[in-house]
Amino acid sequence: MVARTSLINRRTAQKFRQAAISAAGSLKIKLLLFCCFVFTLTLLASRTPSFLGWGQESVPLLDRNSRKGYTLLINTWKRYDLLKQSISHYTSCPRLDSIHIVWSEPNPPSDALIKYLNHAVKSNTGDNRHIELAFDINKEDSLNNRFKEIKNPITDAVFSIDDDIIFTCKSVEFAFSVWQSAPDTMVGFVPRIHLINPSKNENSYIYGGWWPVWWTGTYSMILSKASFFHMKYLRLYTNEMPKSLMEYVKRNRNCEDIAMSFLVANATGAPPIWAKGTIYEIGSTGISSLGGHNEKRTECVNRFVTEFGKMPLVPTTVKAVDSRGTWFW
Ligand SMILES: *[C@@H]1O[C@H](CO)[C@@H](O)[C@H](O)[C@H]1NC(C)=O
Repeated sequence: MVARTSLINRRTAQKFRQAAISAAGSLKIKLLLFCCFVFTLTLLASRTPSFLGWGQESVPLLDRNSRKGYTLLINTWKRYDLLKQSISHYTSCPRLDSIHIVWSEPNPPSDALIKYLNHAVKSNTGDNRHIELAFDINKEDSLNNRFKEIKNPITDAVFSIDDDIIFTCKSVEFAFSVWQSAPDTMVGFVPRIHLINPSKNENSYIYGGWWPVWWTGTYSMILSKASFFHMKYLRLYTNEMPKSLMEYVKRNRNCEDIAMSFLVANATGAPPIWAKGTIYEIGSTGISSLGGHNEKRTECVNRFVTEFGKMPLVPTTVKAVDSRGTWFW
């Protein structure tokens, strides 16, 4: 009797176990399927924001004053193909109102180049839109030329750019809209950091390139090779910057962008803003922007701290991202 009962019990237990195993199996499969579904949905949502009705077209943009665009301030040096490529690209961006080409070559721009660029500007703009195109010719070759005051500017915003990198119109538009929210600060795509030199006294700094920014997520400068700032800073740079500092920039042929970052930080007491953007390097100098040359830059930072009498740069970890392109909050 005892043996029978235990046999029945064993059989029942076995049945239960089998049922439990198959239930667990189907639960696992269901879980897996569910994960696949969520993953696919996430992928779809991140790839095509319009899938969830977040497309660019469906968002009513503010009706902004049509002349409240920006001035493209492009620095170039004997790279006409790059210049042509850049100008042709940026003229297709909607809120560009003016182009100023900083020209420091000994010879003036050729007629052929002027003709080409004028044509590029006209062919990319509609009938009811006009883009100003100007060459700012400089007698001497100095990196300070890139921040020379623009007389009678037609916009408040400057988009300062090197001739060897191109950003999509979408990225430029986005950074411009970030700048409009904070017009006193620098907004751009290339962040850098100053680090405290651990082996020296507390007023000694090290210039940090791309890696420390990537590693720590912290930055305190936005390089002027790709950034928006207010037109007033060109006036400040040209007229108010200590002359010894400008002389230093000119002699070293380096660090004008760090000087601009110092100037803006000193005026605002606030950090710049890093905006997310898609970059295309069209020149051959891609690698140099990632590393190297940092000793000279470190020298510049320490020199500027002495000139300003303090370290004006403010570190931050804020990054501006277009929320339509992100799925997770
Ligand atoms: C830094 O800011 C102070 C206070 O606003 C100002 O007096 C000074 O001239 C600025 N320095 C430079 C070099 O622009």
